[in-house]
Amino acid sequence: MNKQKPDLKKEQAASSARPRYPYSLAARFFFSFMDLVTGNKITLSKTKLVEILASIPYRAWENNKYSRMTCNYRNLEAVEHARRVVEWGREAQDNEYGHLLVIQEKMKLDGVSDSWYLRPPVPWAIVCFYRIFASTLAFFSLRRAFLFNAEFEDHAEHVYAQFVSEHPEWESQPVDNDLVKHYYPDAATWADVFRRIGLDERDHRNKSFAYCGKPEHVVEYEGMPEID
Ligand SMILES: [Fe+2]
Ligand SMILES: [Fe+2]
Repeated sequence: MNKQKPDLKKEQAASSARPRYPYSLAARFFFSFMDLVTGNKITLSKTKLVEILASIPYRAWENNKYSRMTCNYRNLEAVEHARRVVEWGREAQDNEYGHLLVIQEKMKLDGVSDSWYLRPPVPWAIVCFYRIFASTLAFFSLRRAFLFNAEFEDHAEHVYAQFVSEHPEWESQPVDNDLVKHYYPDAATWADVFRRIGLDERDHRNKSFAYCGKPEHVVEYEGMPEID
């Protein structure tokens, strides 16, 4: 495993400079819908909604593959592949949930309250739609589900890179929060916390591209985790 720590500033600049993946019609429709609900400006509420949705595909894949593992337990090759997807799904869900908790801490620190679209029943409706969409996609084509998620994560990576550049005050804002330190012990400032979240999204993006059969779109960096 590569143990070298990534250069977060360098990778944020690389994310900003890299053109976005040419998104599918479905992905562009989804991002436009999100902008319609949340507005074009990147805010903590907006990223919170992104994180609430981000774990859903991983949960759908986990359920899908666990069912297949149960049905095909005699086929150890299929079981091994499914087990890798299940493990990745669980790890990524935990990571996305960590992002959600960290953003909540930042909102508490800044004294920012949730935007209207984070108040029930609005998020319930959006989550319900996305759960049905993700489960249906996973049922019919896991490969297409991985690709849609790669697009979602590519979009999220660019959003975080832009978000940090729009908040230069975060560069001198120290992290003094045990929960945030638990997830990001090496981040000295809030700018680094959000840079690291953006790089986590690149990790999710990379693995999604690798699993959907498009490894040529993996964007490597020093200190990145291995893709099995
Ligand atoms: Fe995330
Ligand atoms: Fe992600």
